[in-house]
Amino acid sequence: MAKKAELHYDGKVYELPIIEGTENETAIDISKLRQDAGIITLDRGFKNTGSTESAITFLDGEKGILRYRGYSIEDLAENASFLEVAFLLIYGELPNSKELYNFQEEVSKHTLVHEDVRAILDGFPSKSHPMGVLSSLVSSLTAFYPKSLDPNRSAEEVNGTIIRSIAKLPTLAAWSFKNRMRQPVIYPDNSLGYCENFIRMMFSLPTVNYEVNPVITSALNKLLILHADHEQNCSAATVRIVGSSHASLYASISAGIAALWGPLHGGANQAVIEMFEQIKENGGDVNKYVEKAKDKSDPFRLMGFGHRVYKNFDPRAKIIKKAADDVLAQLGVEDPILDIALKLEKVALKDQYFKDRGLYPNVDFYSGIIYRALGIPTDMFTVMFALGRLPGWIAQWKEMRENHEPIGRPRQIYVGENERKYVSINKR
Ligand code: ACO
Repeated sequence: MAKKAELHYDGKVYELPIIEGTENETAIDISKLRQDAGIITLDRGFKNTGSTESAITFLDGEKGILRYRGYSIEDLAENASFLEVAFLLIYGELPNSKELYNFQEEVSKHTLVHEDVRAILDGFPSKSHPMGVLSSLVSSLTAFYPKSLDPNRSAEEVNGTIIRSIAKLPTLAAWSFKNRMRQPVIYPDNSLGYCENFIRMMFSLPTVNYEVNPVITSALNKLLILHADHEQNCSAATVRIVGSSHASLYASISAGIAALWGPLHGGANQAVIEMFEQIKENGGDVNKYVEKAKDKSDPFRLMGFGHRVYKNFDPRAKIIKKAADDVLAQLGVEDPILDIALKLEKVALKDQYFKDRGLYPNVDFYSGIIYRALGIPTDMFTVMFALGRLPGWIAQWKEMRENHEPIGRPRQIYVGENERKYVSINKR
């Protein structure tokens, strides 16, 4: 017999269907509750609300499990390439060698952006944050590909937009950095792999051809995989909800970049390094900052600590911590910030406040240390995250479209004034 939940309200009993996922997570389907009982549910920040049924990513915050399409993050980060993972997320299965070759070929054919994009880029002041530039440039692609405005085109045409997004984001991301540096942009080199091409566009100059170090590309490949999807987080939910109005993929990704930018989400990786630097400049007393984070009258939080879903550990943080050690050793970099990070983690993990609330280092606690070692400046960190998260956003958008999901439109409980009469200005 199908499971049901009962709701007793105002002298009546309402039966609510139970939905179970393949990993046994359980939801009460309240979609008819307003129609049947005249009430809605209220859940600020959607802390306990499922917005969709999805077959892309599974995570179990209590057990620290993260899987893309059933494959563990540990396995993928160790063995796969970023484009392989992108294919898996977007199309549902790991590619065979022919499929991967064709996908890589398609992506490398579309890395160039229209020359007029440079005119838009030139309009941004050099102090512009690269995330704002990136979000605007991605949105501007709708002007160069007006047919992409119609997401109801054939699957083949929609796929063209998907390929272009993956191909052009590294170019736009590197160019947003070049704008900040007021350096001439470097055009993509389609003979290179995804990560190498990006690093070359970041660090080459017309006068200096930057030799890409394989240690750097391999670390970048891992970081991008670790960030590639994370089910219904703030930016993925944004992409789905923007796309649910039948806005184009480029517009939805642009909105996702904006959502990712904030320091409580992807912007945490920049905020973490700024916090470490501040601690170092102030004498390195990590205890003082742990006390500050616990003080409810102080808005300071330990950046890179805590997660909406993970309450025991973030599996990505474990992989990144090890990768940070390896990269620093391989590149021969000694970063005093790493010492601060290790001390801070040690003190916070022993502290009852952090234990009671299940606060552990998240993916961004150590990612900035690797980015610094790779020579990537702090305000580009969140752009790196966006580059990694792109396949996830695309997969979430595609799934939402293919499942014909309705427009996202939450309800509210109105707590404002009751009806009142307009009073003319001279009587107020
Ligand atoms: N430092 C100090 N206290 C914290 C922290 C922190 N980093 N994170 C949570 N808390 C406390 C809260 O003050 C709250 O305490 P209370 O119960 O006494 O009121 C409790 O822990 C629960 O915190 P919430 O903010 O309610 O948890 P929520 O799930 O809404 O927030 C979030 C999760 C936003 C990630 C939060 O932990 C945070 O702000 N962390 C720092 C920013 C960060 O690292 N963000 C990156 C997240 S990972 C990502 O997006 C890729």
